[in-house]
Amino acid sequence: MLEDVKEILQKYGQEHLIGFYDELTEKEKQNLIEQIKRIDFDKISKLYEETKKSNKFAEDKIEPMSYIDKNKLSKEEKKRLEEIGEKVISSGQYAVATMAGGQGSRLGHHGPKGTFELFPGKSLFEILCDNLKKANNRYNIIIPWYIMTSKENNDDTVKFFEGKNYFGYPKEYVKFFTQGELPMIDTNGRILLETKGRIKEAADGNGGIFNSMIRAGIYADMKNRGIKWVFIGAIDNALLNMADSLLLGMTKDKGMFAASKTISKLNPQERVGVFCKRNSKPSVIEYSELPEEMAVMRDKEGELFYGEAHIMCNLFSIDVLDKIGKEKLPYHAAFKKANYIDKNGEVVEATKPNAYKFESFIFDAFSTLDDILLMRAKREEEFAPVKNATGTDSPETARELYLKQNM
Ligand code: UTP
Repeated sequence: MLEDVKEILQKYGQEHLIGFYDELTEKEKQNLIEQIKRIDFDKISKLYEETKKSNKFAEDKIEPMSYIDKNKLSKEEKKRLEEIGEKVISSGQYAVATMAGGQGSRLGHHGPKGTFELFPGKSLFEILCDNLKKANNRYNIIIPWYIMTSKENNDDTVKFFEGKNYFGYPKEYVKFFTQGELPMIDTNGRILLETKGRIKEAADGNGGIFNSMIRAGIYADMKNRGIKWVFIGAIDNALLNMADSLLLGMTKDKGMFAASKTISKLNPQERVGVFCKRNSKPSVIEYSELPEEMAVMRDKEGELFYGEAHIMCNLFSIDVLDKIGKEKLPYHAAFKKANYIDKNGEVVEATKPNAYKFESFIFDAFSTLDDILLMRAKREEEFAPVKNATGTDSPETARELYLKQNM
C-alpha cells in the first residue's frame, strides 16, 4: 500500500507527507494512504504554478452589463411578473439551496456560521428558515431546502438542526450535502500536514456547489421532486429573500436560464464583486481585480459603469444546473494563515498568511452561460451581510438592518 503512493509522492515532490508514517497506528496509516490516493496531485501542482502568474484580466474584453431595476417597473408589470413566479412556486417546482460550507474565519465564530446567533436564541439558520416558512405559508406549499456543508462543519450543522428540531421545518424537506475539499500548500508548492497522519485540506469554495449537488444525489432528488428552478443563496445575509416571485417571474418571462439579484455599489471603493461582460459572457470581477480607473467610471446619469454588486442571490433553471456541474470552474488562490506540522513533527502556529487555499466561486458559473438576467433591488431591503466580527458588515450592522425591515 505504501509503495503504491510513494511513487506518486516522489513524482510530485511530496514525500514529506509520509515522513511520519512509521509513527502512525494502523488505522492512521490506512486513512493517510486513502487520503493520498484521493488527491489529484497533478491538479494541485498546476494550481501552484498558477499562483505564480500575474492576472490575465488585462487580455480580456470587459464591458458593463445591463440590468433591470425592479423599482422602476410599473405596478402592472411587477404584478404580471410576480404572478408568473408565484405559479412556479405554488406548483412545487421551486427549491432553495444554502451555501453553508464556508469557514467564516473573519467572523471568528466557533462553529458553523449558520449557528451564529444574530439575536439571543436566533441563529442565522433560523432567520433563513423563518424566511422560507413565510414563503410556504404564502404559497401553501413546502419548499425543499438543500444545505451545503463542508466536511469540517457537516456534523456540527446537522446536530444543530436536530437539536433545534429543524426550527419546525418539515424534516423530510431538508437535506444536507457536503462539498469537496482541496489540500492547502505552502509557497513552495508543498502540501501541508495537519497532523502527522492527515493532510491539511480545506473546502473548495462555494463554486463547488454545482458539482457537489450532482455527486451527492441532490440534483437527482430535485429532478424526482419535479423541481424546475433552484435559488442558491449564502448563509450570511440576514435579509436574504429566498423565494422572490418577481426575480423568478422576470427570469422566466425573459427566457433566461439563470439570474442574479444585484444591489448598486455604494461607492467605487466598496469591497464587493461587480458584474460585467467578459469576452461577451456574464461575469463578476472581484473588487481586488477591478482597476481603479474602471471602478470610478460613470455613465451620463452618474451611475457607476461597473456598479452592479453580486450579493450571492442566484437563481438557476434545473436545465443548466447539470451542465454547470460538469464544467470545470476555475480555482482562485487565497493566501491564508494555516497551522501545520513541520519536518521535525512540530506544530507551527501561523501568525501571518503562509499557505494557499484553492476555491472556485459560484459566480464563475455565469460565464458558462451566454447570458443571465440581472435584477437590481434595494440594498436596505435585501442585504444585511454578516462577514466581520466588528465594523462594516458585522453582526451589529446586520442587526440594525434586519430590525429596520422586520419592525
Ligand atoms: P465567504 O466567501 O464570505 O466565506 O462565503 P466565509 O467562509 O463565509 O467567510 P470567511 O471568508 O472565511 O470570513 C460566502 C458564502 O459562501 C459559502 C459561505 O458559507 C457563505 O454562505 N461558502 C464559502 C461555502 O459554502 N463553501 C466555501 O468553501 C466557501
